[in-house]
Amino acid sequence: MSGPLSVSDVTVRFAGQGRPATEGVTLDLRAGEMFGLVGESGSGKSTLANAVLGLLPGSTSVTGSIRLDGREVLGLPEEELRKIRGNGAAMIFQDASASLDPTWPVGDQIAETIRAHRPVGRHEAERRAVELMAEVGIPDASRRFRDAPHRFSGGMRQRIVIAAALANEPRLLIADEPTTALDVTIQAQVLQLIDRLRRDHGTTVLLITHDLGVVAQVCDRVGVMRGGRLLEVATGADLFARPTHPYTRALLAANPATAPRGSRLPVIPPEWSVEKLGAEAADG
Ligand SMILES: Nc1ncnc2c1ncn2[C@@H]1O[C@H](COP(=O)(O)OP(=O)(O)OP(=O)(O)O)[C@@H](O)[C@H]1O
Ligand SMILES: [Mg+2]
Repeated sequence: MSGPLSVSDVTVRFAGQGRPATEGVTLDLRAGEMFGLVGESGSGKSTLANAVLGLLPGSTSVTGSIRLDGREVLGLPEEELRKIRGNGAAMIFQDASASLDPTWPVGDQIAETIRAHRPVGRHEAERRAVELMAEVGIPDASRRFRDAPHRFSGGMRQRIVIAAALANEPRLLIADEPTTALDVTIQAQVLQLIDRLRRDHGTTVLLITHDLGVVAQVCDRVGVMRGGRLLEVATGADLFARPTHPYTRALLAANPATAPRGSRLPVIPPEWSVEKLGAEAADG
């Protein structure tokens, strides 16, 4: 039995860069879980996500193995990857506005996603699009189907992007900072939505975020990335109660949401600097 996503010893090097963006990452997601990937800016979270869906520039070197539902995706031709994206696996990015075509009614965009992967007629696709819009909480969905993206708030636009991502019932949903561009109250709603949809549809979710509070609330397991490496994987509860890696401890202590009230935010200790980790990796 293979899980929805199996990453094995994946190293990504962008053209012209000495240090790999991700290095020797091994990770298996379990069916239906919400897996949080955390780590500071530049630690390689998005690089890993983009590698899974074949979204890295063609000049990038990717070694190791990435299997979706047991099928190796590294080395697949672009045409095959396109079939996987939005069908077997889908991705939501931080900025909903960038994922939607501003000139096109949102409902048509969702319907088009369905028709790109399924042999359904226009009418059926539109009916399903309205259903999805209602499911992600767009009020009055059948009327708002014809509205262009700018007629919606940022939070509603992100809901529409989620509806499009879920249109073909992907087994794996990768959400890269899906709420960062939204204000705090809307962030919580969108996360709850992703969590509910995951439960209703049995979707596996890889949630990338800076926000350790979010991770504590919704994730079954958490992976901590640092300098391109996956340092620690633990259940959400264990990570907070018993972080085993010193860097994870420093990261938790530096998080305003979990640090003791009134305490000064500590600086990540220099012994866990990226340079130190890189030297360790070179030592084997
Ligand atoms: N297209 C690219 N070309 C060259 N280098 C890149 C490219 N994308 C990312 N990098 C580099 O790879 C490293 C990892 O970046 P990545 O975007 O994966 O980090 P991240 O953990 O997602 O950070 P953030 O939290 O800021 O989104 C960084 O050093 C970054 O500069
Ligand atoms: Mg990123």
